[in-house]
Amino acid sequence: MEVFEIEGGARLEGRLRVNGSKNAALPLMAAALLTDRPVTLRDVPDLADIRNMVRLLGELGCEVEADFESDPDEGGRRVSIRATDETQSHARYDVVRTMRASVCVLGPLLARRGAARVSMPGGCAIGDRPVDLHLRGLEALGARVSLDSGDIRVSVPSFESGGRLRGATIFLGGSFGSTVLGTANVLSAATLAEGTTVIESAACEPEIVDLAKMLNAMGARISGAGSPRLVIEGVESLSGVEHTVIPDRIEAATLMGAAAITNGSLTLENCPIDAMLAVTEHLRQVGVDVLVGPGQADPLRATCRVSSGRRLSPVVATTQPHPGFPTDAQAQLMALVSLADGNSVITEKIFPERFLHVPELARMGARLQRQGATVVVSGVRELTGAPVMASDLRASAGLVLAGMAARGTTIVNRVYHLDRGYERLEQRLERVGARIRRVRAEEPVAA
Ligand code: EPZ
Repeated sequence: MEVFEIEGGARLEGRLRVNGSKNAALPLMAAALLTDRPVTLRDVPDLADIRNMVRLLGELGCEVEADFESDPDEGGRRVSIRATDETQSHARYDVVRTMRASVCVLGPLLARRGAARVSMPGGCAIGDRPVDLHLRGLEALGARVSLDSGDIRVSVPSFESGGRLRGATIFLGGSFGSTVLGTANVLSAATLAEGTTVIESAACEPEIVDLAKMLNAMGARISGAGSPRLVIEGVESLSGVEHTVIPDRIEAATLMGAAAITNGSLTLENCPIDAMLAVTEHLRQVGVDVLVGPGQADPLRATCRVSSGRRLSPVVATTQPHPGFPTDAQAQLMALVSLADGNSVITEKIFPERFLHVPELARMGARLQRQGATVVVSGVRELTGAPVMASDLRASAGLVLAGMAARGTTIVNRVYHLDRGYERLEQRLERVGARIRRVRAEEPVAA
């Protein structure tokens, strides 16, 4: 097992480049199943989840070449995928259980191969994660859906004799808003359906916009991406494409939090500032300066400087679907305002159980009171280093931020959670002044 050992109190200063987005790259990679032509993605981050997707696509008959060694600024970190054997349509439990996002092969396999069998993803540390909306959407397109020995089976009736999915009007909303990967699945499948599909209450996340952009470059006819109403005119086939993945807005938010909590100053390059308005607005309320350089050619790949003074103000924040404050940055915000001058209120509306970081932050001296999906954070003057347990990916990021600000040593156990979403985070933070190192440990480190 690997742990992070963090000596708190070092101020961060310097420049970092934001990597390509994991949550954009995963559905983009799955969309390569929609064609037998080559799909090349640039700026794919080197992460455990991405390597799992490479393995899954290999099992599904794709030849995949992944280059994670080249310099990202030189167009490195490239993954080329080509579906060469389209007879395999089974995403096995072994792979799906390691990565819930495997479910996004469902729509592409169904539309292109006429059938798919994907192990039903279980819940995970952040709560139950049902896929009913994914299935409801695919069913509305005419798919037959059943559950068999823990596997979801979907098929297009009479596919062998030329049957296709049929365009339909689909409502994808739930009590929490929409579903990101559910939208990706239904959108991908609808590109090859016969006729027009309208998805109402579609997810507006930038990762969906990126997916629609790539699918359109492959010959799909999608309009409305970024709004809750997507219109898709089905086409018969899609071609290959070369596409650069958008930068990771959650990595950028985490790095902004790191600058702020260490009272530091970081310049972020390749920063998707346009996709982060709720984050930057909340940070400004906390007292963090986010300055975007003038004349940025691409607001999704901007350069910005993040710095903060000593005093942090409290904030009221509720996680919401995009463009609201993202659930994936909630733990990092909580770590930050645990040092604010006053009481903050943080409500989690997307995954109401996503508070595994709360008891761990409390071990570091944060004053937190949870009631249901809301946590009241009473700011303290200082946090103290402690051994803590990483639980889910973003909870771990919150603990790393807290550790960098705390007095003394923090040990973050189980950093494999963090490695699923942040590439060599400790090396990058160290480059800008953090005192953090990765250490091997046989057992969780207690003191
Ligand atoms: C994506 O998960 C992200 N994962 C998550 O990032 C992110 O937290 C989440 O969107 C919300 O922004 C990837 O992109 C790979 P949802 P997804 O379907 O699509 C309920 C991270 O840390 N729901 O939008 O699986 C669900 O329970 C991760 O990088 C249904 O009820 O999330 C939740 O309450 C973790 N039925 C809400 O919708 C369904 O069929 C939103 O989930 C689907 C979802």
